[in-house]
Amino acid sequence: MEQERIFSIRGAVYSYKGATAPALDGIDLEVAPGEWIALLGANGSGKSTLAKICNALLAPTQGACFALGLDSSDPDCVPLIRQGVALVFQNPEDQIVCAIVEEDVAFGPENLALSPDDIRGRVDRALELTGLSELRRRGSHTLSGGQKQRLALAGALALEPRALVLDEATSMLDPEGRASLLECLRELNRRGMTMIQITHIMEDTAYASRIAVMESGRIVWDGSPSDFWGGEYLRRGFDEPGELALYRELRSRGLILPDTRPVVEDILEALCL
Ligand SMILES: Nc1ncnc2c1ncn2[C@@H]1O[C@H](COP(=O)(O)OP(=O)(O)O)[C@@H](O)[C@H]1O
Ligand SMILES: [Mg+2]
Repeated sequence: MEQERIFSIRGAVYSYKGATAPALDGIDLEVAPGEWIALLGANGSGKSTLAKICNALLAPTQGACFALGLDSSDPDCVPLIRQGVALVFQNPEDQIVCAIVEEDVAFGPENLALSPDDIRGRVDRALELTGLSELRRRGSHTLSGGQKQRLALAGALALEPRALVLDEATSMLDPEGRASLLECLRELNRRGMTMIQITHIMEDTAYASRIAVMESGRIVWDGSPSDFWGGEYLRRGFDEPGELALYRELRSRGLILPDTRPVVEDILEALCL
């Protein structure tokens, strides 16, 4: 029997109407339960299109995408895939629909025609997982950027998805907001959540179990964080995270970093330094 896959994307091509080149040009990607993939690549390389393929907002124009074992080209499967694969976008403001935090989290489950008890349970769990329980009665607009993005995440989690696709979800946040979101994602992943995290912020990759790089609609590199940080990132023209550069420099002078932040420690662990 074929091993269970959260995503199984085979030869996927996607062309937008009127475009001269396909946005996705033959994507093969197998994602097992519990993986955390950091997906990197220049603007226009096809990352957001791939995110939309993953949750059946788009179906490949050639090839196939199976999400949670369901075929995204089958209209009967599409609602199940959209429910089971949550997308979180860049701007939390675009994803918040209700004025009060807990009402916003309840919005999705309320549209699933669940019992009030079920809805309450889901809202409580989602608020707990995102560290927003204390803020549940607050006005959504009064939250900080990081809290708003955690609210968007809570709304997604209330649908009890099996996978999360985060499209530049940290890019509008300040370092504190980003750290709080990452910590939250880390806990979700520890509990088994499968994640595809699109990012251009190198520090965001610290907790990933796998790194993939896109270029011109293709996945041109796919491997472990230690292989990536072991040198591949330089060959592919990615920036070195500031902390990592600092650490290398200090180490080369026989010094140690007095106060390594957890993110650095995780990158270092991945590198076996
Ligand atoms: N709605 C659209 N209509 C036409 N072309 C699009 C649309 N969205 C994206 N594209 C094009 O598809 C390619 C991939 O875009 P995208 O998936 O957004 O890349 P990324 O997220 O990596 O920046 C780009 O060339 C972009 O211009
Ligand atoms: Mg994009």
